[in-house]
Amino acid sequence: MNSPVEELTQRVLAKCPGISVQNARREAEALWATPAFRVSYVWLVSPNRYRSRERINPFVAEFLAQAVMRRLGIRTASELYICTAEQARALSDDFVVKFDRNGKGRTLSWNPSATPTGWCLVSKVVRDAASLAFVTRMIDKGYPAKHHDVRADKFYSGFNPSPAEIDRIKLAMALDGVQYLSIAIARVFLGCTCTPHFGNILVNKAGELISIDHANAEFEDGEELKRMFDFIDRGSELFKILGGVAGLTEGDIRASIDEIPKHPACGSTALLSDYFVKRLRLWKELYSSQATALTR
Ligand SMILES: Nc1ncnc2c1ncn2[C@@H]1O[C@H](COP(=O)(O)OP(=O)(O)OP(=O)(O)O)[C@@H](O)[C@H]1O
Ligand SMILES: [Mg+2]
Repeated sequence: MNSPVEELTQRVLAKCPGISVQNARREAEALWATPAFRVSYVWLVSPNRYRSRERINPFVAEFLAQAVMRRLGIRTASELYICTAEQARALSDDFVVKFDRNGKGRTLSWNPSATPTGWCLVSKVVRDAASLAFVTRMIDKGYPAKHHDVRADKFYSGFNPSPAEIDRIKLAMALDGVQYLSIAIARVFLGCTCTPHFGNILVNKAGELISIDHANAEFEDGEELKRMFDFIDRGSELFKILGGVAGLTEGDIRASIDEIPKHPACGSTALLSDYFVKRLRLWKELYSSQATALTR
């Protein structure tokens, strides 16, 4: 297997025709030196994850993620509920409605131009907060506007932070900051296929990040965790954040699963506890073997 830097160099070369191998390698090394990038690598090197593995029921995935994240000290958009398509169609712009357009119950997405069908997942727009995508475009007018992000701008029309609040917000959104990295790491634990991109994180005026969009997640075999732990330097800030997840207990997992609503859209959660307890044990094992190696 190629080293990550070699693998990345190849990707940069493929993406930027005309770039020299030397410059591509330099770029790959710079990316690899970034903690957030090392975490994202889990998603980058597994482009087939979406197709190859079994998905967690998306309603379950969202409620479970919120419960686990809260136990990790991460804020989420917690005003969340399931409703019928008729109820969803009557909602105002204060709510984000997600549903499965294909009717297979495997994924949920936000699609404001389509009419809701089936069970819908509704999230109340968080007050006094905006997505990192919105805030980045607000701070840097030249930042490219993605279609999906621009359609969400209507949720943030009243978001007018003061200069002091903007300074706080800028600090909060640092990609090498504890808040961002904690969200990225929690998503790996949860098997989220929705990455911590700028449309999936909000920031409020107090400078707190709020994680949203955890509905799409899948059952993993744990191999990706082994790779990720290999990539994270012991003793780094990022390693400490891995320790936050390792500090969860099996009781936390069970209590989080108990918070999933008993609703027909969620179906059975019987297999979930065994799966996540096993995943937590593997995480703890990987963490403590690296931490022990550190003290030798
Ligand atoms: N509770 C909320 N408060 C404020 N904004 C929200 C909230 N939920 C969603 N949004 C906004 O709506 C957008 C779409 O929601 P979400 O990310 O959950 O849907 P999605 O279709 O799964 O997105 P993608 O697949 O592009 O990541 C988000 O990028 C965000 O800007
Ligand atoms: Mg999203």
